[in-house]
Amino acid sequence: MFYDRVKESADYIRSKADMKLDVAIILGSGLGNMVDIMENKRIIPYKEVPNFPRSSVAGHAGNLVFGTIGQTGIMALQGRFHYYEGFTMKETAYPVYVMKLLGIENLIVTNACGGINPAFAPGDLMIIDDFINAVSTNPLRGENDERFGPRFPDMSEPYSTVLREKAEKIANELGIEVKHGVYTMFQGPYYETAAEIRMLKAVGSDAVGMSTVPETIAANYVGIKTLGIACITNMATGLRTGKHSHGEVVAMAEDSGKKLCAWMEALLRQWHNH
Ligand code: HPA
Repeated sequence: MFYDRVKESADYIRSKADMKLDVAIILGSGLGNMVDIMENKRIIPYKEVPNFPRSSVAGHAGNLVFGTIGQTGIMALQGRFHYYEGFTMKETAYPVYVMKLLGIENLIVTNACGGINPAFAPGDLMIIDDFINAVSTNPLRGENDERFGPRFPDMSEPYSTVLREKAEKIANELGIEVKHGVYTMFQGPYYETAAEIRMLKAVGSDAVGMSTVPETIAANYVGIKTLGIACITNMATGLRTGKHSHGEVVAMAEDSGKKLCAWMEALLRQWHNH
């Protein structure tokens, strides 16, 4: 049963890293270096954890990194599982179910994505206010296990207002400019066509990427408060000159990752104070 598999993963993790965990953070493309600011670190490779999927994309390490920033206990996921790799949506969100059984109540999801809103530029950081799931499936499809959450979960506030305000306040204190917007998940792995981007713009998307939405849906379902931060690494197809490349995405994410890192460090350090 899915629940038993998740429990086996969570029990193993707890046997190796038995600490208070306040926040989990999923690190997107090029953002894996954020673990450098964590203290008292303990690393568990995904491949050691029973039943855990394994990531295969360049730029994604595949480690659970436990540690602290100030008084805040953190589980960071260096590398995520993408639908385009062939995982099911449920497998893509697998770590979120494990978080639930570890008793984690807050999740930060980060990603690298393309900008659609003309007011955006590469290097911008965007607080995700809402999402559009442009993939015709989601992790909750199939039999429901009430131990995780309800059959028909509410999705009216997929990104916690409290966490968004807290993040915004800290960005203001640090003088980091942040954008806001709607993130659409397109399944990839090809970068969208110009016509697809025009369609996404018409339905209200500010940014487009290939991840984040499954984890957000699962987190809301299991009752974990979620904050989503998107790194705009490039303007989307039709809104830029030249072609997309994964190298450009990773390089830009690493670059704006420095700004993101400072922001997340301050947010996590003061987690209990705001
Ligand atoms: N589209 C989809 N995913 C992305 C993009 C993009 O333009 N940039 C980074 N991830």
